[in-house]
Amino acid sequence: MELIFASNNENKVNEIRAVLPSEIKILSLNDIGFHDEIEENGDTLEENSRIKAETLHKLTGKNVFADDTGLFVEALKGAPGIHSSRYAGTGNSADNIRKLLKELEGIANRKAFFKTVICLFWKDEIHFLSGKIEGKIIDQIKGAEGFGYDPVFVPDNYEQTFAEMNQSQKNKISHRAKAVENLIRFFENN
Ligand code: IMP
Repeated sequence: MELIFASNNENKVNEIRAVLPSEIKILSLNDIGFHDEIEENGDTLEENSRIKAETLHKLTGKNVFADDTGLFVEALKGAPGIHSSRYAGTGNSADNIRKLLKELEGIANRKAFFKTVICLFWKDEIHFLSGKIEGKIIDQIKGAEGFGYDPVFVPDNYEQTFAEMNQSQKNKISHRAKAVENLIRFFENN
């Protein structure tokens, strides 16, 4: 059974290939020759993942899934949220972190969570699967692993930032790992 992953990120595609049952053949956007930008103009992770998955489902008629992730900071009313990748306007992680720490200057409530939503079109039915991890934003960067906001995010019940953990430690507890676990469970049950 073929399943398109509506992503241009080959690392993510390979990660998914490694964990899904081998009878599911994952095709990337490159594999199907789709190189257009899909405008993600929704207001939620659910809407944006659906826009991507639905566009490809309508175009190909095949099984498709897409994911969308954001960092939601309580004291900033959920910002950067769906705007996480371009929070500072440049698409650069160091700029995003600088802006985040500036917005949180002098604010005691540092609670935040990462959430990943996967929208799946499977046999013409739509399904949503998600994963979330709660934690806090510290006031300085720590660690060099990972990407995005990892150097300032400390998960609840841990002392280290995501960027101080090695990849396998992060992958045991991360929002994305939990969403993918739910996707694997879906295929085990369907
Ligand atoms: P995407 O939907 O996976 O492209 O994620 C959107 C943005 O959220 C990324 O550009 C990062 O800024 C941030 N982000 C997503 N996942 C993580 C993570 O695991 N650690 C840190 N930042 C992340």
